[in-house]
Amino acid sequence: MARTAPVNRIGLLTGGGDCPGLNAVIRAVTKDAIGHGIEVVGIEDGYLGLIENRTRLLSHDDVSNILTAGGTILGSSNKANPERFAVGKNQDGTPKFQDMTDLCMRNIEMQGLDALVVVGGDGTMTGSQVFIKRGVNCIGVPKTIDNDLHGTDLTFGFLTAVQIATDALDRVHTTAASHHRVMVVEVMGRNSGWIALHSGVAAGADIILLPEIPFDPDIVARVCQQRSRRGKRFTIICAAEGAKPAGGKIVIERTDPTSPDPIRLGGVSRLVASMIEQKTGLESRYVVLGHVQRGGTPVAADRVLATSFGDYAMDLLLGAKKNRMVAYQGGQYTDVALVEAAGKQRTVPHDHPLMAAARSVGTSFADRE
Ligand code: F6P
Repeated sequence: MARTAPVNRIGLLTGGGDCPGLNAVIRAVTKDAIGHGIEVVGIEDGYLGLIENRTRLLSHDDVSNILTAGGTILGSSNKANPERFAVGKNQDGTPKFQDMTDLCMRNIEMQGLDALVVVGGDGTMTGSQVFIKRGVNCIGVPKTIDNDLHGTDLTFGFLTAVQIATDALDRVHTTAASHHRVMVVEVMGRNSGWIALHSGVAAGADIILLPEIPFDPDIVARVCQQRSRRGKRFTIICAAEGAKPAGGKIVIERTDPTSPDPIRLGGVSRLVASMIEQKTGLESRYVVLGHVQRGGTPVAADRVLATSFGDYAMDLLLGAKKNRMVAYQGGQYTDVALVEAAGKQRTVPHDHPLMAAARSVGTSFADRE
């Protein structure tokens, strides 16, 4: 791609839940931009910093030595939707929302930003649409441990979360085997089962419960009993937080009405463990991995992906491309219209080859026997 400099000053923000690899993107974009004489204004705490005009110019030094660090040096927010920002409460206690787009546009102009690089998941990509409509060039970089963003096969952070979940599943094996227990490990992923599917296969889980395939509690119980009868006196279950029993409901841990995605999932592993004890009498325990999956240093593959995404984002800007999101499809780096990734979730298709591979080694999805 030809490298000219159609932009002089760009804004860079990280939105949504933090995720390993964010700093690697910040480093790649900033170093590349500075190398082309472009200034990078770091916007603090995602769109919140744009609303509150909290920014800082990023230097080479600021982004040195951050490649391996988890989190984001810019901070993040998963509540600040510029078009629908919670500014207090109504008399009935519900949140009062206000459209902050005009204020953000004034701040973008005041800062002299020629473009925004928005690093985030579907909430962040959706948040950018209002600026695109007002003529601001937005370039998206896909992040999320959930790997559920439309338009890309892979988001950075996912492979690190899978590794952490796999390590946890490996570790509960010893307790499961020593105490002849059923161990249920709950992993994140919202309404998509990518983390559960990949870590479950990697750790050789006996049962994987996905949001995409409602499970039959009787089958879960029977699989545990059959293993016991075969002399395998333990069972490892990898449950996605969004998994639900057939005809039942997802388990909600809390709701946050000020957040664009108000539902926080959590607790299905407890439900599954107690169902198993009731139905089989087998001693069962559960572990909710939670935010551990988002923390710490990114695995090598995520550092590579994040660095390549950052570089590609700069290529798009330097090539005068508008409103694109960097993507990884079929083993190649590419880009898609940013709007394509907004407001949709990429879930696990029922005919995904990894599900077939899992079934062929005897893993149950508790949907059929
Ligand atoms: O989208 C990333 C994610 O970690 C999900 O897997 C999880 O459901 C959610 O964020 C948790 O959100 P919070 O950090 O607000 O608890």
